[in-house]
Amino acid sequence: MSVALTKNQELAMNGGSPVRKTLLPYGRQWLDEDDIAAVVEVLRSDWLTTGPKVAEFEQAFAEFVGAKEAVAVSSGTAALHAAIYALNIKPGDEVIVPALTFVASANCVVFQGGTPVFADVDPETLLLDPEQVEAKITPRTKAIMAVDYAGQPCDYDTLQAIADSYNLSIVADASHGIGGSYKGRRVGSLANLNTFSLHPVKHITTGEGGVITTEDFELARRMRAFRNHGITSDHRQREAEGSWFYEMVDLGYNYRLTDFQCALGIRQLQKLPDWVERRRAIASRYNDAFATSPSVKPLGIAEDVSHAYHLYVIRLNLEHLSADRSTIFTDLRSQGIGVNVHYIPVHLQPFYQRRFGTRRGLCPVAEWAYERILSLPIFPSMSDQDIEDVITIVHHVTNFRDAPI
Ligand SMILES: Cc1ncc(COP(=O)(O)O)c(C=O)c1O
Repeated sequence: MSVALTKNQELAMNGGSPVRKTLLPYGRQWLDEDDIAAVVEVLRSDWLTTGPKVAEFEQAFAEFVGAKEAVAVSSGTAALHAAIYALNIKPGDEVIVPALTFVASANCVVFQGGTPVFADVDPETLLLDPEQVEAKITPRTKAIMAVDYAGQPCDYDTLQAIADSYNLSIVADASHGIGGSYKGRRVGSLANLNTFSLHPVKHITTGEGGVITTEDFELARRMRAFRNHGITSDHRQREAEGSWFYEMVDLGYNYRLTDFQCALGIRQLQKLPDWVERRRAIASRYNDAFATSPSVKPLGIAEDVSHAYHLYVIRLNLEHLSADRSTIFTDLRSQGIGVNVHYIPVHLQPFYQRRFGTRRGLCPVAEWAYERILSLPIFPSMSDQDIEDVITIVHHVTNFRDAPI
């Protein structure tokens, strides 16, 4: 008796298919013994939090990105929240946010009572499209949230020209972008406020963590109070001054990053240049491998940027395939390739539809892209064999799902 195979079983059996035994994730942290030793050293010291390592990490981070000030906080989301707070965004204010980003880029505006206004992205780069930004400006617009999607810096000169002519601030959500540059200027020094995430899938990690960089001392001062309940002095300063007195001048949060996390951050930062190089080498191998594929198209890259490749995103040419993105996603996962999708357009999330009435059709390019994108594994400790496995299996799956001509 013959049993009908599902397409997926057929794929798995197809011609000695190159299935991997273990799932290769799309991103992964890299921790060495010296990272662990640095954390343990702090755990044995007097200061577990708000001690000397915070300032040391902030200084090293500011130097790395070429900014005057760096403020360390407990997550990338806290960094975005602090930036929106520092700009004094209030109820009634609007911030223009790209539709294709992680929800936190928009949520931070809502935290302060503001309204995120979604703008569409460029179909080649999936970065915020400056023309779409200008089309969304109203008398209530206060800022533009520029997200360096996948690790490619936005077109900051064009965005800055728009911001200058309408008197707006720019927040760069550079959670994907550390190590990149735009026209020779480093990510972290490109906007009024630049935010980073130190989550384990990002370039460097402190477990959870975030940083905001700025040239503006006053904004940095406001954010340092904001991360500490809105109190103007911290525990260590009061201890040094032998004082108990403190003042809460504004509403803040506990968004502090611990000293042992900062000790980890200092170590990770030292390795970042090599890791970004490795990410670029992996991306370059993928670019070559998919250059002539009829089914898979890498994202476009502007000429004047240096990409940091937090993600390597491909667009599926659905017109050339007999399956949709969800099926290809499942195929690749079943073959051991841990692909992911970045992102579901934020305006399609139930919360945004309910609270702000956003609907399908609002940002057609982001919606079109969402149906086609997949993030392939990219992280510095990937072996050359891992990279070749990804390439072979992507070719294998897309050939198998080739549309009949
Ligand atoms: C673009 C973007 N913004 C913000 C965040 C939030 O960072 P965190 O997870 O550290 O809060 C992330 C993290 O996934 C992100 O990718």
